[in-house]
Amino acid sequence: ITRFPLIPVKGIPLMNHIANNWDSIWAFCPDPSDILIATYPKAGTTWTQEIIDLLHHNGDSEACKRAPTPVRSPFLEICSPPPVPSGLDLLKKMDPPRMIKTHLPFQLVPPGFWENKCKTIYVARNAKDNLVSYFYFDCMNLTQPEPGPWEGYIHKFMQGTLPWGSWYDHVKGYWMEREKRNILYIFYEDMKENPRREVERIMRYLDLSVSDEVINRIVELTSFKKMKENPMANYSCVPPVVFDQSISAFMRKGEVGDWTNHFTPEQSKMFDEDYERQMKDVNIPFRTLI
Ligand code: A3P
Repeated sequence: ITRFPLIPVKGIPLMNHIANNWDSIWAFCPDPSDILIATYPKAGTTWTQEIIDLLHHNGDSEACKRAPTPVRSPFLEICSPPPVPSGLDLLKKMDPPRMIKTHLPFQLVPPGFWENKCKTIYVARNAKDNLVSYFYFDCMNLTQPEPGPWEGYIHKFMQGTLPWGSWYDHVKGYWMEREKRNILYIFYEDMKENPRREVERIMRYLDLSVSDEVINRIVELTSFKKMKENPMANYSCVPPVVFDQSISAFMRKGEVGDWTNHFTPEQSKMFDEDYERQMKDVNIPFRTLI
């Protein structure tokens, strides 16, 4: 495995295996019953996938494993890095409704999702924790460009040169479209603060209904501790040549405010000033601490 170079697609730096398959990705047409989970990387994608999968299986984790369509498969992405099987190929073999994850920014989501009015859940995480999590991920994900030193990484994040582009444009892009496209926009910090409330919110949005007892079970099964031990959620099935979890675990820390352990006061001030500039046109209620 070599770390893939980035190639811009409509101005967004993406891994070359995505750029090289761009036409088939853009042409992908989902079923109206498919569910899209969109995030900037490291915002809580896997956590949300786990919740949705369990909601669909009435909180029965064994049923999730037996399901003919492995909706929780971490490979089920529109585009995955080789040697992980291509998401497009896997999707063709699965019956809807499928749970499809993507890190593509709003403007690069294949238009079939909007034409078919697919339910879409966007998960956003505060910029500083998202950045810290992405730094560790880029250390262990041997397919993405090397992160380099921490200080320089902060600048790459601010400039939007990391894979999948600018965090700022990403969170804004879905935010601006959330009403028109009926996107459920949720926050990692809200999930940490009150997981039960957010599980119920997702359940209502998906027009599902499970008992209180099942909701309690889902909250328990989707705790950080449980997911860290769960091979269907902790990415232990991805070979170490792709994810070297001896460098950093995929289920790393799972907290709000870990940025305070990484940013110096000067870095934090510089970041905040730039943040004000980049986010001045929107008012998205992010919290960097809870
Ligand atoms: P950290 O690196 O801060 O620990 P994604 O799934 O989008 O790649 O996001 C991964 C991040 O979400 C990691 O953050 C991971 O630990 C965290 N995460 C995953 N499951 C979680 C859970 N059940 N509770 C809290 N955080 C979780």
